[in-house]
Amino acid sequence: MMERLQKVLARAGIASRRHSEALIEEGRVRVNGTTVTTLGTKVDPEKDHIKVDGKRITVESRKVYLVLNKPMGCITSLNDPEGRPTVMNLIPEMKERIYPVGRLDYDTEGLLLLTNDGALACDLMHPGSHVEKIYRAKVKGRLSDEGRRRLEQGGLSIAGGKTAPCRVRTVRETVQNNWIEIVLHEGKKRQVRMMMKKVGHPVIRLKRVGYAFLKIGDLALGKFRHLSSDEVGLLKTWSKKGLNGRDGSPHINK
Ligand code: URA
Repeated sequence: MMERLQKVLARAGIASRRHSEALIEEGRVRVNGTTVTTLGTKVDPEKDHIKVDGKRITVESRKVYLVLNKPMGCITSLNDPEGRPTVMNLIPEMKERIYPVGRLDYDTEGLLLLTNDGALACDLMHPGSHVEKIYRAKVKGRLSDEGRRRLEQGGLSIAGGKTAPCRVRTVRETVQNNWIEIVLHEGKKRQVRMMMKKVGHPVIRLKRVGYAFLKIGDLALGKFRHLSSDEVGLLKTWSKKGLNGRDGSPHINK
């Protein structure tokens, strides 16, 4: 089946759709021996010989979907120039080229999805998808009603822009700290940490406990499980909700 070259590259797990377009425009992609720089060129991934930076790419047939409980002390890139451990060290080697969907900080724990399904990953990471992400954060001090209101109403200026409205609740209070739950529908870099710092409650510990309808549950730190086919189906539906402008989702900041 003929498909657009950038879509094939994304599906092969080479890069996001946008980054794949850049690779083509930079002349780094060859099809059957000829450099292709025109976006939208159609190829047959089964038959055509496609190379990126001289390396042959293959389109995965078996799709793999994992959910990992990421521990602190590893990064969510495939490799790190500084040599830090990556989440890939926690997954046994497999022939499919899976990669993390989105990012969690080096010192953030919790639910991380990994897949070789480039189309689903692109949809989930698309800023318009508004997939729900649930975090539990141990923060310094007690969050006041005013602090909660500022977080929830959105419009906080942080690196990456203004925050969208979100939901916040306190789940546990100790003498000096609060555990709060914060539900975001966007994913700016270090967003929870920056938002909490902005309202005067720096994050001490951060875990992602939910992503779309998925919950971390009793999955042990550092362990992963495969999603069931029902979960994969549901995730595909969720990933399309914001993108299609369809309603019926629980999202609050479309
Ligand atoms: N927000 C953060 O600050 N860090 C993460 O890892 C995820 C969300």
